[in-house]
Amino acid sequence: MTVVLITGAASGIGAATAREAVRRGHRVAVTDIDLAGADRLAGQLGSAACAVGLDIRDEAAWETAFDTVASRLGPVEVLINNAGIIHTGYARQLSMAQHRHMVEVNLLGPMTGMMTALPRMRAQGHGHIITVCSMSSFLPLIGYTSYGATKHGLRAFHHSVAIEERGGPVTFSIIHPPGTRTPMLEQEMADPSSVITFAEKPLAPERVASVIVDAIVKKPVEVVHPALGGRVQRVAGVFPRLMRVAIPRVAAMAKRRAPGAGAAPAAVHEQDGSR
Ligand SMILES: NC(=O)c1ccc[n+]([C@@H]2O[C@H](COP(=O)([O-])OP(=O)(O)OC[C@H]3O[C@@H](n4cnc5c(N)ncnc54)[C@H](O)[C@@H]3O)[C@@H](O)[C@H]2O)c1
Repeated sequence: MTVVLITGAASGIGAATAREAVRRGHRVAVTDIDLAGADRLAGQLGSAACAVGLDIRDEAAWETAFDTVASRLGPVEVLINNAGIIHTGYARQLSMAQHRHMVEVNLLGPMTGMMTALPRMRAQGHGHIITVCSMSSFLPLIGYTSYGATKHGLRAFHHSVAIEERGGPVTFSIIHPPGTRTPMLEQEMADPSSVITFAEKPLAPERVASVIVDAIVKKPVEVVHPALGGRVQRVAGVFPRLMRVAIPRVAAMAKRRAPGAGAAPAAVHEQDGSR
């Protein structure tokens, strides 16, 4: 079956996707900056999987990873650009190093992966690039400034390359998960500045993984979840005046839902009038 390289596959959505892909008969390269975690998961998945250390910020490491996977499982046919990070907090609370870290991992990392995969997939005559993005690629959100900016940029890059490569042998799909129960979400839930995350009930990573693995066969252009609510958010996000009213209201509603959210940092929130 298909050879799939997944980034950030030692944890959360990436790990669930690796499990589901192997369950459906694919061969999977479990890659992560956390090699020990990737090794553990690949060990559980058996001979259909292999672990490869890959820091997606490192251009040379991408080339090595593609070569390693080719020698162990076969040439990469599907790249799932999944790895991502978040530093929670309002923009003014984060250091420039934290803002830069998000841009380097969430935007430049997947861009580098796409630019590594594209010539190889063109040369082999087929390939599929699946980008795991976020609903925050459509919306300006309190507490998600740089994170959302990286996801807006990643969506723009993904679709622009897909248009340039139309008619070529490589297909492109982008998936926008909503809140999903992973270590990343736990990090967000622990920080009152990201309280808007309580606005929706998070999904299990297995649900998102199933959508991602479906995409290997169905090759959708773009998937938002939930289908209806996601489409509304996608349209609403282009109206900044509406967002200035709506997002603080959603955040206030989310705060009422959040267990112990009364502990939000008053200095920041009251000043913004958002809670
Ligand atoms: N969890 C959510 O609610 C949610 C919602 C929407 C989108 N997403 C996106 O889904 C993707 C997966 O998120 P998750 O929730 O599973 O996160 P997670 O924190 O559970 O897993 C992320 C993985 O990425 C790895 N990683 C971090 N930096 C890396 C780097 N430089 N190179 C390679 N690997 C690196 C980590 O080691 C970890 O294994 C991310 O792109 C995230 O933005 C998550």
